[in-house]
Order: sequence, then structure tokens, then C-alpha cells
Amino acid sequence: MAKLVHGTDKDWEKWGKENPYFGVITDPKFLNSNMADASLREFFSSGERHVEHVFEAIRAKILPEFNPDSILDYGCGVGRLVIPFCRRAQTVVGIDVSPSMLEEARRNCGKYGAGSARLLSVDEFWSLPASTFDFVHTFIVLQHIPRKRGKEIIGKLIGLLVEGGIGAIHLTFSNDRGRMRDVISGMRTHSSLLNGLLNKVKGQEFGRPAMQMNSYSLNQVFEMLMLAQCSKVSIEFSDHAGTRGVMVYFQKAPAPLL
Ligand SMILES: C[S@@+](CC[C@H](N)C(=O)[O-])C[C@H]1O[C@@H](n2cnc3c(N)ncnc32)[C@H](O)[C@@H]1O
Repeated sequence: MAKLVHGTDKDWEKWGKENPYFGVITDPKFLNSNMADASLREFFSSGERHVEHVFEAIRAKILPEFNPDSILDYGCGVGRLVIPFCRRAQTVVGIDVSPSMLEEARRNCGKYGAGSARLLSVDEFWSLPASTFDFVHTFIVLQHIPRKRGKEIIGKLIGLLVEGGIGAIHLTFSNDRGRMRDVISGMRTHSSLLNGLLNKVKGQEFGRPAMQMNSYSLNQVFEMLMLAQCSKVSIEFSDHAGTRGVMVYFQKAPAPLL
């Protein structure tokens, strides 16, 4: 089992154990207590739509013949995106910090015809050799990870790409919550008492874990891409309830023609 080191890792394992689908999409209809066949269908079709859109965007903006053989999805949760990726590539690897999320992903991949997916821990992610994937992807994950660690993950993801490989990295870069709410949100992840009391004020379960929302510096991310010889950078904005994000698509420099 992967080592759980950071506070947010323990929180994600709790989401994975107790309410994995709501942990992925925080809509009350995806709470375990409300899950029905229709919500499950809606949950997985949202993954299919996302993957379809990502493929279309890459073909339109970067590489018309985009057809990867190998895909890595970082922060795969219960396999919402791994399953449609498996319909499009031979080798698909999903990574998650929560063993319970990975277990649920394994069950879902088996159930929905994506049994070939490899689902790995974060420790295994760090051991993957460089230059092994045609496509690396992460969506609504880095925002939940402290920036310093998130930047290390971005560096590793870029390194995992083969020459000419494509990346799609989703980040949040600002929000309209104001400084005070940012500070409170940061404190909630460090104090389960404060988090529990604030949960109670909102009428939620005392033990519901906090979900960190971190903004990244796009300057720093663009610098990383530039220094790693990535080009054809293209972005798409996202706005989820005032949390502003961006999907950054890019291509690692293709091998020079001899
Ligand atoms: C909001 S969910 C998104 C899941 C998936 N990307 C999707 O869109 O269906 C965030 C996922 O990131 C995982 N996660 C959180 N911190 C992580 C970390 N440091 N490394 C890998 N995965 C992490 C969580 O366990 C959770 O499954």
C-alpha cells in the first residue's frame, strides 16, 4: 500500500472510502446515500464527454492525427476518465493517492470493459521511467494538491512524455473567494476541529474532510514547459463556481529529423 504522507492524502483516502463519487464531482446527487443507476450513468457519461472533448481539442489545436497508444491519467479517482481512455488506447495507466479510490476504479474498469487499465499508487508513479507515454493527462486534481508538490508532479508528467508526445494539464489559477476564505480554507485542512465545527455550521457531517483548493502561478508552469522544450501550447479556460482554471495543452518537441 502507498505511504500516506501529506494531510491531503489522508483526506482523499477518507473520500475514497466513504464517498468516492462525491469526492470526484461534489454534487449531492453523487453522495453514496443518493446514488442511483441514473446518477451512476450520468457520472460516467460526463467522463466520456470530457475525453471526447479533449481528443477533439488536441486534434483541432495541436495534432490532427492525435491517436495515442499509451495514456497516463494522473489522479484517476474511480476511473471516470480511465474507462473512455481505454476505448482509445492500448496502454492506459491511472494513478491515484487513495488506495480506496484505486480499488473502486479497479471494480469500475472491470465492470465497464476497461480491464486492461493499470491502476497504480503515487509511489509507483514516481518510479515510472521517463519517456514512456504518448499522452499525459490530469483533470481537477492539481488544484487539490499543495503547489510545491503539484509543480513536482507537473515536472514528472512532462518527463514521462515521449518526444512529440502531448500533455493536457488542468490547473486552477485564481478564485473569487477573497483572501480571508482562502486562509480559512487552508486552516481547515490543518485542523480537523476547525473543519468539523465549520462543517456543523453548514449542516454537514462533522468528519467530512476539507478539500484544499490551490491556485498555481501560470508564469511558473509556462516556464517549466518552455524549459522542457514544449511547444504548441494552447489553453482553454474553465470556471467552476468562481474557481478559475485552465486546461493547458502542449506538445513536447518531436525528435529532430535526421
Ligand atoms: C476531484 S477527483 C478527480 C478524479 C478524476 N481526475 C476525474 O476527473 O474523474 C481528484 C482525485 O485526485 C486524487 N488525488 C488527490 N491528491 C492526489 C495526489 N497527491 N496524487 C495523486 N492523486 C491525488 C484524489 O484521490 C481523487 O481521486
